[in-house]
Amino acid sequence: MSPRFAHITGWGMAVPDKVLTNDDLVKMVDTNDDWIISRTGVRERRIAGSDQSTASLASDAAMRALEVANVHPGDLDMIILSTSTPEYIFPATACLVQDQIGAGKAGAFDLLAACTGFLYALNLGSQAIKSNGAENILIIGSETLSRVVNWKDRNTCILFGDGAGAFVLQASDEPGGILSAVLRSDGSGGDLLSVPGGGSRHPASMQTLYDGLHYIQMNGRGVFRFATRVMAEATQQTVESAQLTMDDIQLLIPHQANQRIIEAAARRLDYPMEQVMVNVDRYGNTSTASIPIATVEALEQGRLKPGDNTVMVAFGSGLTWGAVLVQWSGPIPFQRKVSPRKVRWFARTRSLLARLRRRIEGLLWGSE
Ligand code: ACO
Repeated sequence: MSPRFAHITGWGMAVPDKVLTNDDLVKMVDTNDDWIISRTGVRERRIAGSDQSTASLASDAAMRALEVANVHPGDLDMIILSTSTPEYIFPATACLVQDQIGAGKAGAFDLLAACTGFLYALNLGSQAIKSNGAENILIIGSETLSRVVNWKDRNTCILFGDGAGAFVLQASDEPGGILSAVLRSDGSGGDLLSVPGGGSRHPASMQTLYDGLHYIQMNGRGVFRFATRVMAEATQQTVESAQLTMDDIQLLIPHQANQRIIEAAARRLDYPMEQVMVNVDRYGNTSTASIPIATVEALEQGRLKPGDNTVMVAFGSGLTWGAVLVQWSGPIPFQRKVSPRKVRWFARTRSLLARLRRRIEGLLWGSE
């Protein structure tokens, strides 16, 4: 059997309209614009409205990615959604997205590896395609971190923002696509960055609320030291495992956590900052959504073209870290244009009818 390759053929992003600037934050906590810019590079971030959530942002990004790839939601085999801010503990947010976009034949599940999650999902999807387990896979990173940020904690509230990004992965006999990946973890550092409340260790209670355990807790300096080390290491490892060198890489797309962490990684790699994608200034840290959002903007700016090699590299809570090397391809040429947006409308109706059917069945069985 000839080898199969997993190509990124569609991409999309969705961010809320509401912008929260550093000056807005000055009215909420004891901070200032200069401090935030010099220590983090962040100037503003997006905040989800009350009608938005991790699933709604994910569905919007997914529809855009499907349109670029020209893939009908009904042709998706799998949806992998990476998030640290799911709609619920269960059901999986991926299942809500499956219903919202009308992906009737797709299995769907969530994956939690914090800011590295999108790369874990990308590699998992790529392996499923390469082993003939799937043809079309939707990979989503989506976060509403504003819902777990303590807006009175100046150590964390300046860093994070909301948003979503999505890729469509498709099988092809053409060489290229996902070439190599390095994924790592070290649970001994789990306490450096966590949301400890609401799970089975500290179930939600008046006490967990009082203690603020439902908010992000972070040891900023500890995370910073870890991040600057692993970003360069993982990039080098994934480049070597594809038998390439940094000279073969046209663009580095790092997790957008902090401008200083990104610059430190580029220095360690002796790699020019002009070839590093940075948009942390406008979105802050959107965790697992940051790499697909940065990729979409790199494409819009013409910084990534078919045939280019790019390394996506991330670190996050867990601790987790990793890198994926991609030879960029773009959409597979198609003859007939599909319209995923029309499907979304039908999906809504179908979902309502399915709920109604279940209600009627419940009434009938209940009366037996
Ligand atoms: N405004 C003004 N002053 C502040 C602020 C603020 N928002 N926050 C802290 N300070 C003060 C501190 O109190 C401290 O004052 P002191 O010297 O009088 O004690 C001083 O500034 C320095 O504080 P540090 O914590 O040492 O500042 P640092 O340079 O380390 O920057 C930061 C802090 C930005 C959090 C940095 O450590 C960092 O980016 N760490 C990585 C965090 C990260 O990336 N987290 C996300 C990981 S990805 C994921 O899984 C979601």
